Amino acid sequence: MKILFSTMAVPLLAATAFAADSIPADLRETALATFKALPSTTPAVANNPITLEKIALGKALFFDPRVSASGVVSCNSCHNLATGGDDNLETSIGHGWQKGPRNAPTVLNAIFNIAQFWDGRAEDLKAQAKGPVQAGVEMANTPGQLVATLKSMPQYVGWFNAAFPGEADRVTFDNFAKAIEAFEATLVTPAPFDAFLNGDDAAMTSEQKQGLTLFMDKGCSSCHGGTNVGGEGYHPFGIVKKPNADILPEKDKGRFAVTHAAEDSYVFRAAPLRNVALTAPYFHSGKVRNLKQAVAIMGTTQLGEELKEEEVDLLVAFLNSLTGKLPEVAYPVLPAETATTPRPVS
Ligand code: HEM
Ligand code: HEM
Repeated sequence: MKILFSTMAVPLLAATAFAADSIPADLRETALATFKALPSTTPAVANNPITLEKIALGKALFFDPRVSASGVVSCNSCHNLATGGDDNLETSIGHGWQKGPRNAPTVLNAIFNIAQFWDGRAEDLKAQAKGPVQAGVEMANTPGQLVATLKSMPQYVGWFNAAFPGEADRVTFDNFAKAIEAFEATLVTPAPFDAFLNGDDAAMTSEQKQGLTLFMDKGCSSCHGGTNVGGEGYHPFGIVKKPNADILPEKDKGRFAVTHAAEDSYVFRAAPLRNVALTAPYFHSGKVRNLKQAVAIMGTTQLGEELKEEEVDLLVAFLNSLTGKLPEVAYPVLPAETATTPRPVS
């Protein structure tokens, strides 16, 4: 029994020693040159001072299905805060059960993205929030109809008055979008990776630290850096080798639709990787459900490298350290409808 124990202990010890060796002593300093820990308070937002009243109003609007023409679809339908801030579908289902063209990214930490959407076509969250309301495949509403809906409920009028005091016209489409942006700014998810960056050596496992080392050594961090471990710049999907047409559908040319520059064909925003373990399926097409497979695809398409299985495992271990503490959001009680509230249309 004793002999058996000692022969088994040798390889185990050897593996541990190897693991420790492959983690550089200055890992935190190197990482801090590329990444930034999440702030510990709600971040400031340009041209939209955050107040508690605005956050509370934005939260109600985020959960209110009456923002949509059908009265069925809310922001939370596709960005479910109970399931990682997205819908876990290949592409979203919206108005009249229509299927949209792209995978829904998470709203968690979206405030830290350089711009919103896979192609960055909305410059910030307030510009973004106006999109889904009017998109035929999402909420199929109009700004006028939305404002009429909100004005028909005295409690909403009171909440807009409290959130936007001193403004002549308070219940507006612009203020709807600003309130939602204020709420979204609170959706921040501190993770073990942040605790590590902030000085806690024990916050990440040895595997996760090896994965972080590899993530930087291989060059993943050249596109996925900053606060959101991505979301900061645009790159061709398939910079070295084009993914197959199933994963990169030919019709969706990404940023080309925004800039009309030939070099922006099939360019997309490098996906922000916080909470990526919760947000399958992956890529703008939503065609890949397995995170290991998504990482292997990044190896071939972005690095021109067939990653070894152990490398993929370590990279995924690091990505798991980006799963944060989800904000605890109590479901809001929404204002009651009145006789003048516009009726839902199908
Ligand atoms: C993108 C918020 C409604 C599906 C986004 C993004 C945000 C967001 C912040 C960008 C995230 C990023 O770029 O990383 C909201 C809000 C909504 C709303 C505040 C309510 C007003 C919906 C609905 C659906 C939906 C109802 C599904 C029917 C999507 C999809 C994208 C997206 C597919 C990616 C579109 C693209 O890149 O072209 N949303 N969303 N969203 N959302 Fe929503
Ligand atoms: C998307 C990881 C290298 C640019 C993704 C996704 C993952 C990932 C998991 C999907 C995220 C999601 O759908 O939510 C990695 C890893 C890398 C790496 C582990 C290193 C092995 C790179 C490099 C670049 C890059 C070097 C830039 C040259 C992108 C872009 C997307 C993306 C543009 C979005 C693709 C799309 O349109 O769907 N990455 N990445 N990545 N990454 Fe990487």
